[in-house]
Amino acid sequence: MTERIIIDCDPGVDDAAAILLAFGSSEVEILGITAVAGNIPLEKTEANARLICELANRTDIPVFQGCGRPLLYPARAGVTVHGMDGLGDIGLPKPASAPAARTAVQFIIDQVHAAPGDVTLAVLGPMTNIAVALSVDPGIAPLIKRIVFMGGAAFCPGNIKERAEFNFYFDPHAAQAVMASGIPMVMFGLDVTHKAIITQERTERLKRLGRIGSTIADMLNAYGAGDPCLHDPCVIAYLIEPEIFSGVEGFVEVDCVSSLAIGQSVVSLTERELAGRAPNCLVMTEVDHDRLFSLLEERYQRVELEAS
Ligand code: BDR
Ligand code: CA
Repeated sequence: MTERIIIDCDPGVDDAAAILLAFGSSEVEILGITAVAGNIPLEKTEANARLICELANRTDIPVFQGCGRPLLYPARAGVTVHGMDGLGDIGLPKPASAPAARTAVQFIIDQVHAAPGDVTLAVLGPMTNIAVALSVDPGIAPLIKRIVFMGGAAFCPGNIKERAEFNFYFDPHAAQAVMASGIPMVMFGLDVTHKAIITQERTERLKRLGRIGSTIADMLNAYGAGDPCLHDPCVIAYLIEPEIFSGVEGFVEVDCVSSLAIGQSVVSLTERELAGRAPNCLVMTEVDHDRLFSLLEERYQRVELEAS
């Protein structure tokens, strides 16, 4: 059955790779793309989302601008592995389309009410938009089918900080609000995304696909020099072929107080750790990386064909 999704993201090279994977996959129906501040400022993430739609001739998909800063922190710079433009500085043009008038938060709320129990949120960036939507309209929480997200590092060190992964660190309070929401969740933290490595051989294969494959390969080569892990596409790949991944049920919380560990995902697994709480998340830990990259190649080929 087709999964109806909203992609919430901060493109971002690996976000772009994830969006394009979704474009090539009939297993998911993209209701819209919502942008948030993260890897780069909001104006750029939103414009990049529109540009990715234009590159793939998918301007039928609406893009919405969301929150421009974390819940409690001021707006701040993200990570530079994505380049100044957020898409690897490979010379991509500016988008030609205009931004949508409705906000990302309102779009999420409207879509969830329009199809109660049927909308999945695929979250690829800091969770600010989702936390604000839950705060503006708490009634949507039981109506969301599930949240599949990239964020956190359950059993391994962080990336932006020793103990924290970037998306959780950027807006820990939003991440914690979402973890506490009671919505069914699947977590793709660094435990699993660190096993999805971009190699020269893999990007060479993408290059051979044509215009879109080459663009993705160029972006991944630029980004891969600073971060060789293909994080965000794991979320979309799971919605298409869940068997590629495996994990454990756990209770995930986000440290919002400690100065050394702010943004750290704290994952309880044992009866003692759970202390009577039911797991709130399927925490992914393993990936069949060859199958993941074969899937990417196959689906980018479809985007290529459909766009030409
Ligand atoms: C996450 O941070 C961003 O740089 C990536 O787009 C990904 O969502 C990895 O920590
Ligand atoms: Ca991202």
